Amino acid sequence: MKTATVSTPGKIILFGEHSVVYNKKGIASAIDKHSTVKIKENTNEFISLFLKDFNIRTRIRIEEAVSFAEEIKTLASEKKFDQIKKLSKNPINPIKAVIGTTINKDKNPSSFDMVISSRIPKTGGLGSGSSVFAGVSATILSLSGNRINKKKIAENAYLGDVIAHAGTPSGIDTSTVTYGGFIEYKKTTGVKPLKIKSPLLIVIGDTGIPARTKTAVTQVRRMLEEKPLQVKRVLEEMDSIAEEGIRQVKENNFEMIGKLMNENQECLRGLRVSHPKLEKLIKASLRAGALGAKLSGGGKGGIMIALAESKAMQKKIARSIENTGGKAIITTIGVEGVKREGL
Ligand code: PMV
Repeated sequence: MKTATVSTPGKIILFGEHSVVYNKKGIASAIDKHSTVKIKENTNEFISLFLKDFNIRTRIRIEEAVSFAEEIKTLASEKKFDQIKKLSKNPINPIKAVIGTTINKDKNPSSFDMVISSRIPKTGGLGSGSSVFAGVSATILSLSGNRINKKKIAENAYLGDVIAHAGTPSGIDTSTVTYGGFIEYKKTTGVKPLKIKSPLLIVIGDTGIPARTKTAVTQVRRMLEEKPLQVKRVLEEMDSIAEEGIRQVKENNFEMIGKLMNENQECLRGLRVSHPKLEKLIKASLRAGALGAKLSGGGKGGIMIALAESKAMQKKIARSIENTGGKAIITTIGVEGVKREGL
């Protein structure tokens, strides 16, 4: 019986969360925290799934997963976002959709046992869901002897985020965790690797309050419908910040990157996706000397990131975050994307 294990990183967004949903530019990076998906071919009628971190076990028929994936694609194309939002409450559903769409396109589907676990904090904002979706697709593809095909994996994983984000994900999360490194992203043109001269020193501050990506994305969509001129102006501003961010990241101009992060955060406040605890951790980081700080991901909870100019400063920021009631994470960014283990 064939087996495979795939490990996939999480991610942070340096510039452009929310505006990327509206085809503006974003910059993101993979982080050195991973999810793991293990697959083992079986001869049963059922796919058996074990979500270790949730202690959930379930069995799914192949045909059921395939038709579920089709149903989600139809709901998304008909913009039935409320129905998709309801389905997002069950953590099995996005995984079932990714399994369904991957198997449907695969010539030789077989049944399997799958075990999913993750070391990516689940507060939200670090791509824990997207990372698992990419791993699920990659393991199934490797069962049929396929080499890692990142384009296919990112496409299949995207359907998981359609459910997790209630309808309109930009694709930045699934692309970042799949391709790894630093990426430039735009919905209609996709991924472009971003070459950097030396690594950015980031501190992640976890609020411990679950991010509410679905709510935040839905709220921004409604705001855009209600106040199109005002919101479009903010989105345009975020696009220019990301555009400038790309130039400054390539130049390693840390001071400018920090300044742009602060400006990006001001726009996110304007979209009302921040949270008092995020603001507290951002202030604490800036007080400790961070060059810039902003929320990262969907917001309304979840995580923030701060940029440091030295390793000593990184530690100082981390202490300040912890003293303010957050959990500080210092980790390497720009790491490799989805990969098969043991090869
Ligand atoms: O909260 P996360 O890590 O899933 O990030 C969401 C990023 C958004 O830009 C808000 C949504 C998207 O699909 O790009």
